[in-house]
Amino acid sequence: MLNMVVCVSGGGTNLQAILDAMKEGRIQDSRILAVVSNNASAYGLKRAEMAGIDGICLSPKDYDTREEFNQAFCEKMKRLKPDLIVLAGFLVNIPPRMVKEFAGRIINIHPSLIPSFCGTGFYGLKVHEGALRRGVKITGATVHFVDEGTDTGPILCQKAVEVKEGDTPESLQRRVMEEAEWIILPQVIQEIAQGRIRIGEEQEGLKR
Ligand code: GAR
Repeated sequence: MLNMVVCVSGGGTNLQAILDAMKEGRIQDSRILAVVSNNASAYGLKRAEMAGIDGICLSPKDYDTREEFNQAFCEKMKRLKPDLIVLAGFLVNIPPRMVKEFAGRIINIHPSLIPSFCGTGFYGLKVHEGALRRGVKITGATVHFVDEGTDTGPILCQKAVEVKEGDTPESLQRRVMEEAEWIILPQVIQEIAQGRIRIGEEQEGLKR
């Protein structure tokens, strides 16, 4: 049984894609221990509640310093003891000590084909604004292991999506979610749950 914690900051459509895949048997042998958010009003927390899953809000705003928040965040995760932490639209930098503690056990979904439009400052709609500004014809999404950098960890899966004439950041975001994110994130989780992607120190990626 793969025990997961899913971290969200906003709408939580990727969390919903995971929940749907679990319900429909596209993700097996897994359970979500808790959904963690840095934002008390994140709709992702509501989705957790509707699915009967514990929702936990841990906001940097509730701590005097970032260091205190990082410590509380890390301690909370250690107490939950997940096999896998899934960053599903979680817009908080993971403290290095947590990356160490859960080496090779944290994955992230990013809405571009890394190494394009990623790194500091590229999150949410900004990624798609960047893609449209540059005029790329193909974009997509990436699931990768999390390391100490921003969007720099080993890549597990990518899926390309066409940019269309007249796209706005919003329309492109929606297409990348529908055609890539909501597909590859559940797929990777299933591959991990079935032992086809090994997690832990090795970070070897997908063996086909
Ligand atoms: C998703 O597009 C996700 O890929 C992105 O935020 C959105 C969250 O949507 N994540 C990043 O940009 C991380 N760098 P959701 O809350 O509806 O899943």
